[in-house]
Amino acid sequence: MTQAPGKLVQASAVPHVVTELPGPRARAHIEFDRQWTSPSLPRAYPVVPVRGHGCTIEDIDGNLLLDFNAGIAVTSTGHSHPEVVRAIQEQAGKLIHYSADFYLPIYAEMCAELARIAPMKEKPRVFLTNSGTEAVEGAVKLARYATGRQYLVSFLGAFHGRTYGSVSLTASKAKYHAGFGPMLPGVFHAPFGHVADLKWFDEVLFDREVPPTEVAAIVVEPIQGEGGYVVPEDGFMQGLRRICDEHGILLIADEVQCGAGRTGKMWAIQNWDVEPDILATAKGIASGMTLGAFIARDSLMTKWGPGAHGTTYGGNPVACAASLATIKLLEGGLMANAVARGAELMAGLRRLQAQFPSVITDVRGIGLMIGVEFDTHEHSAAVEWAAFQRGLLTLECGHSVIRIAPPLVLTEAEAAVGLELFGEAVAEVAAKA
Ligand SMILES: Cc1ncc(COP(=O)(O)O)c(C=O)c1O
Repeated sequence: MTQAPGKLVQASAVPHVVTELPGPRARAHIEFDRQWTSPSLPRAYPVVPVRGHGCTIEDIDGNLLLDFNAGIAVTSTGHSHPEVVRAIQEQAGKLIHYSADFYLPIYAEMCAELARIAPMKEKPRVFLTNSGTEAVEGAVKLARYATGRQYLVSFLGAFHGRTYGSVSLTASKAKYHAGFGPMLPGVFHAPFGHVADLKWFDEVLFDREVPPTEVAAIVVEPIQGEGGYVVPEDGFMQGLRRICDEHGILLIADEVQCGAGRTGKMWAIQNWDVEPDILATAKGIASGMTLGAFIARDSLMTKWGPGAHGTTYGGNPVACAASLATIKLLEGGLMANAVARGAELMAGLRRLQAQFPSVITDVRGIGLMIGVEFDTHEHSAAVEWAAFQRGLLTLECGHSVIRIAPPLVLTEAEAAVGLELFGEAVAEVAAKA
């Protein structure tokens, strides 16, 4: 990593920024960007990353930033982990693309590896995609195909992606639907998270809307991501499994954000010992290369035949190589690290809540998937900005929540510096509240 002289502060051996943000090169680049890119991109704040290493991002002005966002919960093994880079380089030198319409060896190897780590007793089969939204689309297509049923249930607060099927299942913010209607027909949104809410299925959906025999699947994020890092009550996931079993409905776990080791288990649903019928993954499973997958029980996946579903790029060999290296690293210590660092961050953030109870209203999460809820959106936005000004990258979600989702390689020293910077940001905002 390059460093502009005098810009590096060694705080507990963790580099972070001291100059203005955004700097002059960042401002010039943002002006260029705004002429050419789609204005639909959310662009949370003006960071211009050019290099990454572990939990550190270097921006275009040479500032070093501590990354508690991981490119939206993606770079699980840290930025440019040497073993992931080596796997990518090796595969790129051999074969970059041929397509899953043919018998790529690494494609089948990747499927077998995901089947090995799938939270399913029956032998699973796997379909590889390029992204999270494609994994959800594929899971839903399989569910309708295999059951012959048409209706789908997802949850208020859910985010499943931006293609038409996934965005129809999404109900975290109205702006994701605004101007795009009508959505996919046959989708119902249930309340999320409380065991008592489960009565909605019998009392509302099955009684007044549609019979359970016509519902193909319940699609759920075991921990809601974009909706605010919401952890359901113990018993909620088990309750969903019971409803599915009772009525022959498939349970689809969308583990795109909460899976791939982030909670300290490979899959978040394993925190409740619940087995899904189909599991969708992406983001952290390949450390930033574009890979997604949906994994289903053999007896389900074998219901469809050649041509029913396919892809040109999904399961790209380079992305598969990155993912095989990633899974090795997750199992080789990073999931355990997520538990240890998560406990430190959770304890520190709860101390911060006790210090500033008027602005921080909740701290929740499992492992390195932590949500800090503020009393207002103005306050969470101001804390996100104040943290950025100190060289700490975080990202809002829900209406007034800051997500803490660093790479799983986070060290104890980095966790401590991150807490310090976040604490300063909260103190600054609380002083003005
Ligand atoms: C739970 C969940 N599902 C699906 C998606 C969509 O993934 P992608 O952006 O890769 O299409 C996301 C993205 O944030 C997500 O958090």
